[in-house]
Amino acid sequence: MCGIVGYIGSKDTTKFLLDGLKELEYRGYDSAGIALLNKDRIDVFKALGKLNNLQDKIDHSTLDEYDIGIGHTRWATHGKPTELNAHPHLGEYSYVVHNGIIENYKELKDELIEAGHNFVSQTDTEVIVHLFENYQNKLNDTTKAFKETISRLQGAFSILLISKANPEKIFFFKHGSPLIIARGNEEEEVLFSSSDSPLIGLAKEVVYLEDGIGGVASKNSIDFFSDDYSWSTLPTSKQFAQKNGFRFFMEKETYEQSDVVSDCMLGRINDEEIIFDEIDKSLLDGIKEIKICACGTSYHAGLTASYLFERLSKIKCNVEIASEFRYKEPLLTDDTLFIVISQSGETADTLEALKMAKNNGLKSLVICNVDNSSMTRMSDYTILTRAGIEKGVASTKAFSTQTVVLWMLSLYFAKIKDSISNELMKSELHALREVPKSLLISNSIHEKTKRLSKRYLHGHGFFFIGRDVFFPLALEGALKLKEISYLHAEGYPSGEMKHGPIALADPELFTIALMPENLLYDKIKSNVEELSARDSTICSISPLEFELSDDFIKTQKTDHYMLEFFEMLVVLQLFSMEISIRLGNDVDMPRNLAKSVTVE
Ligand code: M6R
Repeated sequence: MCGIVGYIGSKDTTKFLLDGLKELEYRGYDSAGIALLNKDRIDVFKALGKLNNLQDKIDHSTLDEYDIGIGHTRWATHGKPTELNAHPHLGEYSYVVHNGIIENYKELKDELIEAGHNFVSQTDTEVIVHLFENYQNKLNDTTKAFKETISRLQGAFSILLISKANPEKIFFFKHGSPLIIARGNEEEEVLFSSSDSPLIGLAKEVVYLEDGIGGVASKNSIDFFSDDYSWSTLPTSKQFAQKNGFRFFMEKETYEQSDVVSDCMLGRINDEEIIFDEIDKSLLDGIKEIKICACGTSYHAGLTASYLFERLSKIKCNVEIASEFRYKEPLLTDDTLFIVISQSGETADTLEALKMAKNNGLKSLVICNVDNSSMTRMSDYTILTRAGIEKGVASTKAFSTQTVVLWMLSLYFAKIKDSISNELMKSELHALREVPKSLLISNSIHEKTKRLSKRYLHGHGFFFIGRDVFFPLALEGALKLKEISYLHAEGYPSGEMKHGPIALADPELFTIALMPENLLYDKIKSNVEELSARDSTICSISPLEFELSDDFIKTQKTDHYMLEFFEMLVVLQLFSMEISIRLGNDVDMPRNLAKSVTVE
């Protein structure tokens, strides 16, 4: 979740780096830094928090003329967000910026310390620059030293490295995380970025580097280490680039879920347990129950979590809509852990609920996407969801990352409470690792939702139904449809339909039935049969064909209900979006709504 830029040329290097980082800031913004090279001198500026802080530092400094520079905006994975942990990282005479995670950094660090290198940060990245200098000191050949360095790294690493040992060059390598190299519009100009939007207007031709491709660039040459690359034309519209070719931000963000969920899990799962550096085991000391408060989509993630906390952690959990909680004169006792969930960290009702909990002396934890937001500042503990900026008003990746964090948290608590067998823990961890796969979108499933959408543009309403965690998922599906299509939809527990709503059933009532194979399949099947018997139009989403469906969206067979949950989530998001598009609505900015609701 980091952004990288680099520049070689005679224009204003600092400006390119700062402008570029501004474009990438959505990738992460707990710190930023740049390193600027002028022959025998490297100047470095780093600042915590948003880019403005770095800009302020630079505005108050006297700058030289620089022909080469690298920059980075960080979303912490290893080591807390501090200035020392901010990139670029320094050896004796070289600097590196890195996006990804070096899995074998501990053993490399031990080896390098043994060889006399001093480390100042807690990051995995710092080993890269020391490893490079270690080889350079032995080989006295920067290209060879860089190649040797790369050959020792494991994990994901997209890297730019500069060194006084060869002050006219940038060494680059891509593995796992994205990296682009471009020939600038000016003569003798080479640009780097981890995404194409900083390059738009400044370059026409780029190489989207493939994994395992690297090289060395100077102002008049780019030498790739292999022939596996090709130049392509850069899009000219920033909007288009920002949307990565998708029609809407919501579509892009739906597709991004697989990647951001991987980012969200990065460094937080090992073979035996969940690791959250940002909290500690004492969080549960004296705690008997959990109360979750949130609004909208975040509330649905909270409801999902309540099943997992009780099932896996064996901790009593209840969930409340923040706007209701505020005025009900709730009884708050200090044996309750108060969890708020918010994409923005600014939602007024949730923030107010958090204040009430704090005033009553409750321990608090926020699950949030925006560091330094009001909620992360107020709460005792924060777990960031690392979803990156979500631009579509309709939440997509915020929900999937929140749910993954909450699932991980239920396992983290289960371990502390000793409420889970080793065997179950192993199979849960295995399933968690499979989530990114469940969120991948195949052409066929997208095409299917597109085709079906034309049959669901009218009617007198939709019922999304499910049981257990598929009930909050049904609520989320209904909310997605309502907010972007303006059609009436409700989410309902399927077993509850017969207590009233089934009276609405007729062919113009559309039932979207979530029918997972791995959780209460027979129960939900009989609920859907009841609706079918009353002639409701049924669209079932399931890996198992259901003969009473009018329409059927087939999901993949898996062995864990949460994997079915995530795949169905994607189907619901695409289905709503395709209906909204057919109705000619503004998918990203639906009427009457705002991305962040900072009023009561
Ligand atoms: O930023 P928050 O998560 O606190 O926002 C809460 C709701 O306003 C939000 O989840 C809203 O329901 C979604 N954007 C709808 O898709």
